[in-house]
Amino acid sequence: MDDVILARALHVLGVVIWIGGVGMATMVVLPAVRRGDLGENRFKAFQAIEHRFVWIARTAVIVVGLSGLYMVARLDLWDRFHSLSFWWMHAMVCVWLLFAFILFIGEPFILHRFFPRLARARPDFAFAVLHRVHWVLLGLSLVTILGAVAGSHGWSIF
Ligand code: HEM
Repeated sequence: MDDVILARALHVLGVVIWIGGVGMATMVVLPAVRRGDLGENRFKAFQAIEHRFVWIARTAVIVVGLSGLYMVARLDLWDRFHSLSFWWMHAMVCVWLLFAFILFIGEPFILHRFFPRLARARPDFAFAVLHRVHWVLLGLSLVTILGAVAGSHGWSIF
């Protein structure tokens, strides 16, 4: 079972780095960027931070996905996906899919194509929308983490 312990440790490490970064972006970086504290050019300030973190987040997403899938296969947990009491298993997969889409498709193909234009034309609106999206993603992630830690240690609401 040492392999499952290692997979769980890597899983949690990946989650900490990835969602910790999302929390930092949402609660610290974006408010500072929106206020102009990091420079007049808000888009340049945001991009300088985002383009460094995006590779860290992509790596963490891969580690979390592979380690999670490994645990499901190794412990044969597929049945859990048929039961609502394991809602947090579904939530983990949904949050993972959402971020994988955003980081590997949305960020390079959508954000990079449309956001710079919007940020130049209507900066207040563009950063307000970006900030709100970050709050929604952070909220979903935190509920999932609470559910996964509590659920995998025996707690159930159903
Ligand atoms: C493909 C996606 C994922 C799969 C297949 C997966 C699978 C798993 C499995 C099998 C466990 C162990 C459950 C148990 O021991 O009963 C687990 C634990 C956990 N997962 Fe995931 N997971 C995925 C994504 C995520 C995401 C996106 C998050 C965070 C937002 C997350 C957070 C956690 C946490 C916090 C635990 C509990 C660790 C502990 O307290 O020991 N997982 N995951």
